[in-house]
Amino acid sequence: MVTKVLILVAAYLLGSIPFALIVGKVGYGIDIREHGSGNLGGTNTFRVLGVKAGIVVTIGDILKGTLAASLPVLFAVDIHPLLAGIFAVIGHMYPVFARFRGGKAVATSGGVMLFYSPFLFFTLIAVFFLVLYFSKYVSLSSMLAGVYAIIYTIFVTDDIPLMIVVSVLTAFIFYRHRANIKRIINKTEPKIKWL
Ligand code: G3P
Repeated sequence: MVTKVLILVAAYLLGSIPFALIVGKVGYGIDIREHGSGNLGGTNTFRVLGVKAGIVVTIGDILKGTLAASLPVLFAVDIHPLLAGIFAVIGHMYPVFARFRGGKAVATSGGVMLFYSPFLFFTLIAVFFLVLYFSKYVSLSSMLAGVYAIIYTIFVTDDIPLMIVVSVLTAFIFYRHRANIKRIINKTEPKIKWL
């Protein structure tokens, strides 16, 4: 029991690592929460600090989800990897290391899928960029990738835990994009210019 709790705490702490805050402060001397959308995530890092920093933060946010989901396997503890993954995503959204003000659950959820279902991960990336190409909205692409993941789990797999966790993570993603949804409706959501 104690080891199970330790794994979940470790997953939460891993998810809490605020890469956008660290890269912004250490590399550029700025607090990214005071710039752009204020979000501690890859998109806002691309927006505020540029491509190099955006890539570093996005990869960091993905890999902490991947590592957290792999902890039960690495330490041979009988916990479902997806449960550890959910704890990492909660850490990403509400990080203990950044006054519980974190990101929007997208990259870290993707990282959990990279460990658990690489095929789903890579098709998620394809759906994300397809929607991004046509809409130019990163937020819409993130949310529709979540919707795709739910459809995929229902029609392509019979993995009930995956279906449940993908639905929970997509609900997190929609919840964390409340302000983006309002901006999309008002037509004030910023569009990307490079695709
Ligand atoms: O992954 C977050 C993205 O979907 C939206 O980020 O900074 O535009 O609110 P942002």
